[in-house]
Amino acid sequence: MTQIQIRRASPNDAQAFVEIFSSPQVIWGTLQVLYPSVEEWRKKLEPQPDIISLVACVPDASGNEQVVGCISLHLNPNRARRKHAAGLGMAVREDWQGKGVGTAMMQAAVDLAEKWLNISRLELQVYVDNEPAIALYKKFGFEIEGRMKQDSFRDGEFVDVYSMARLKRPNGRAE
Ligand SMILES: CC(C)(COP(=O)(O)OP(=O)(O)OC[C@H]1O[C@@H](n2cnc3c(N)ncnc32)[C@H](O)[C@@H]1OP(=O)(O)O)[C@@H](O)C(=O)NCCC(=O)NCCS
Repeated sequence: MTQIQIRRASPNDAQAFVEIFSSPQVIWGTLQVLYPSVEEWRKKLEPQPDIISLVACVPDASGNEQVVGCISLHLNPNRARRKHAAGLGMAVREDWQGKGVGTAMMQAAVDLAEKWLNISRLELQVYVDNEPAIALYKKFGFEIEGRMKQDSFRDGEFVDVYSMARLKRPNGRAE
């Protein structure tokens, strides 16, 4: 089985992000815009106090590291009563989907958020027809909380989106 390493993303990963988000299938599942640029990603990957970006790496044919997936946690450090909540977004390069990369990244993000950052609510949005993503989220205990109609524009039409969340403390009481 391929060894999947998770590490923090850096601006030097910009080219790998362009490769992940150059696939129409990945664009289809996310809010990214066609024709990503390295410069744009280099800026986005500069350290920001409210975003933690992780990447998944696997060895290429020569044994060198290649980045094949990314996941980001969007924190609320300046919102006193929403510090316990964080947003989540992720993508896996098309040729590496269905091989456990998404699962490895989600496990790392959930552990970081819940065991180290004291985040008890992880939230995300997903197109209602993105079955692989919804299956992954349900596997990690995310539940559908609502449906936003015509939320986003995708390939010539508006699409509905589910809001999903995973709660660490279903009774809502902080210990
Ligand atoms: C959604 C995505 C991140 C999943 O990553 P992945 O590496 O393919 O996921 P994994 O291989 O770890 O599989 C995780 C689970 O997803 C589900 N899944 C994966 N591929 C699937 C498919 N083609 N159909 C249905 N379910 C699927 C399964 O439940 C699987 O768990 P299992 O293997 O234990 O049964 C990836 O497909 C992706 O990047 N898609 C394009 C971008 C995107 O849609 N991002 C999400 C935005 S909300």
